[in-house]
Amino acid sequence: MKFFADTAEIDDIKELAATGLLDGVTTNPSLIAKSGRDFMEVTKEICGITDGPVSAEVVALDHETMMKEAEVLRKIADNVCIKVPLTIDGLKTCKALTDDGTMVNVTLCFSANQALLAAKAGATFVSPFVGRHDDNGVNGMDLIRDISQIYDNYAFETEILVASVRHVTHVLESALIGADVMTAPPKVIKALFNHVLTEKGIEGFLKDWESTGQSIT
Ligand code: E4P
Repeated sequence: MKFFADTAEIDDIKELAATGLLDGVTTNPSLIAKSGRDFMEVTKEICGITDGPVSAEVVALDHETMMKEAEVLRKIADNVCIKVPLTIDGLKTCKALTDDGTMVNVTLCFSANQALLAAKAGATFVSPFVGRHDDNGVNGMDLIRDISQIYDNYAFETEILVASVRHVTHVLESALIGADVMTAPPKVIKALFNHVLTEKGIEGFLKDWESTGQSIT
């Protein structure tokens, strides 16, 4: 399963990239606003940190303007992935861009039928939002299971990008289902490393090692 960081914070992206575990980055207008940075500038900087896809979202609602925005965004770097909303105009834009060889991430997917449409429109990635479903009293992971089955039924190549990930259990369940990608805030990705028994184990080993009076170097 590929790991994307869901952030526009450069320091966090650099830190995760240094682990060798970062496969890409997703941003959205809210994350850009939170970063306080210029959209084009920060997107270019992110594209220079990772070789993987960097999702940059259009803000227009009509197909024609989405295409114009995509034209600007895809010139930023070769690894820019155009993010479009799951609407009729968004999917028209998705079809036109992917036919042209541009990566597209169809975002704001909340139903398996919507994911079916995204795959038929040739999306590179579809982003079902699990956390926002959970917030609404619906099990977000059930949506991932349904999309996974539909994509398997028809051998669609669109990758399932689990989005709106809020905790490590979302990551675990995504991997058990076999999702292609998950995108999570840096703090969730960092939390994947933690286990109290790992910490306790290190502490015990170091204490015993010190008692030997030896050194490795
Ligand atoms: C995905 O690409 C979105 O940027 C993101 O996962 C949304 O997450 P949120 O529901 O925590 O805002």
